[in-house]
Amino acid sequence: MAYSSYHQLVLISSLLFLTLSSSSLAQQSFRPKALVVPVSKDASTLQYVTRIGQRTPLVPVSLVVDLGGQFLWVDCEDPGYVSSTYRPARCGSAQCSLARASGCGECNSSPRPGCNNNTCGVIPDNTVTRTATGGEVASDVVSVASTDGSNPGRVVNVSQFLFACAPTFLLNGLASGVKGMAGLGRTKIAFPSQFASAFSFNRKFAICLASSPSSSGVIFFGPGPYNLLPGIDASASLTFTPLFINPVSTASAYSQGEPSSEYFIGVKSITVGDKVVPLNSTLLSIDSEGNGGTKISTVNPYTVLEKSIFTAVTEAFISESAARNITRVSSVAPFEVCFSSENVASTRVGPAVPYIYLTLQNKDTVWTITGSNSMVQVSDGVLCLGFVNGGENPRTSIVIGGYQLENNLLQFDLATSRLGFSSTLLGRQTTCANFNVTANP
Ligand SMILES: *[C@@H]1O[C@H](CO)[C@@H](O)[C@H](O)[C@H]1NC(C)=O
Ligand SMILES: *[C@@H]1O[C@H](CO)[C@@H](O)[C@H](O)[C@H]1NC(C)=O
Ligand SMILES: *[C@@H]1O[C@H](CO)[C@@H](O)[C@H](O)[C@H]1NC(C)=O
Ligand SMILES: *[C@@H]1O[C@H](CO)[C@@H](O)[C@H](O)[C@H]1NC(C)=O
Ligand SMILES: *[C@@H]1O[C@H](CO)[C@@H](O)[C@H](O)[C@H]1NC(C)=O
Repeated sequence: MAYSSYHQLVLISSLLFLTLSSSSLAQQSFRPKALVVPVSKDASTLQYVTRIGQRTPLVPVSLVVDLGGQFLWVDCEDPGYVSSTYRPARCGSAQCSLARASGCGECNSSPRPGCNNNTCGVIPDNTVTRTATGGEVASDVVSVASTDGSNPGRVVNVSQFLFACAPTFLLNGLASGVKGMAGLGRTKIAFPSQFASAFSFNRKFAICLASSPSSSGVIFFGPGPYNLLPGIDASASLTFTPLFINPVSTASAYSQGEPSSEYFIGVKSITVGDKVVPLNSTLLSIDSEGNGGTKISTVNPYTVLEKSIFTAVTEAFISESAARNITRVSSVAPFEVCFSSENVASTRVGPAVPYIYLTLQNKDTVWTITGSNSMVQVSDGVLCLGFVNGGENPRTSIVIGGYQLENNLLQFDLATSRLGFSSTLLGRQTTCANFNVTANP
């Protein structure tokens, strides 16, 4: 099996920090302005799934989107990995140093994708189940649609897109039909950096997740505009806040000591309706061991709050709701706080409940969470506050999860380390499903 091939993982420290070699550049002369891939929500796992083309001959590959993920990993053990353009990364190559892969692997069975001698390895991880294993670094053709910001355009290739091969068992816990995970994190080989290098655009990308499994949201790589029907450039409605680097990875036990590839923001206070929620501010910053702070995640279906923050936020929400005659009903797991929808009107921005405001670097920089992103309809007549209790001493105090990101545009600018966020687009009469993604591979 492929994972046993890394028994010889020898760690050597490498002082080589090479920039992306010209071999990774796209070979065609057409230079896209930006790229776009579709993202849909898997109804049973609540994971967000994207699709790219890979290999020769090209096949569509579905992948779970991992916003903070380190790189692309795919199942190579599957007998279906067939490609004439698969190239393992040779030990000591520029590709290995870009991938920060310092081991040199051997494989005892006959050579195939994922099993080659003299190849460097990394540790692909399934961040949903928190499982990690060894896998060979390789490159192959990746194919995605270009865009002018309004419609998908011609499909472009990156001829030597770096990724990690994983054994089939690493797919356990992922949505049915997917072949791996698409890491969008802050490493040199995650999607944003490889696409930016291949096509010389800014290291920027934007995600816009649709709320319904039957519709498709999008991820854009490169600069805006991000035009959503009816002709709204969603990039025009962004507010900006600094992104922080957590000095210690929070994702996997195997990458401790490395800075985190995830995206953290600085929540300073939380307000519910008219109430400023009393919080222990120590929990809101990242300490030297990497504990605390606020990160954004697409692998958590709902926002997870450290216990004392959860209690303070839900108490404020319950009292502000009671003032509006919204009555509490029994909880429905995984949620602790649910209400009858009887006295809750419907508005364009979701059920009319108290808004939740995340105040960032100053009082004018506020991420507003309206009913569309706070309330989950769990049954007829019952709405639950879509936040989950993270218990005491979680690694990260606030993990903003997928449900709270839906129909919000988030633009990550790696060069300036800043996040642009829109709050809900519903108030602007558009949604993340309003981008035309019909022409994708
Ligand atoms: C992209 O790569 C695939 C697989 O190698 C190939 O069949 C296709 O012709 C390439 N397309 C372009 C535009 O180069
Ligand atoms: C790797 O090298 C060993 C020892 O030379 C050999 O037995 C094995 O078949 C090789 N494996 C691959 C995948 O080339
Ligand atoms: C969607 O994009 C395709 C490909 O560019 C184009 O042919 C089609 O007309 C577009 N549809 C709409 C509704 O804009
Ligand atoms: C605030 O949180 C920190 C970190 O968990 C903890 O050490 C401290 O005791 C807390 N302070 C209060 C007043 O609860
Ligand atoms: C709540 O209900 C009480 C009693 O039925 C009523 O007097 C009051 O106006 C209601 N308040 C709101 C905000 O609907």
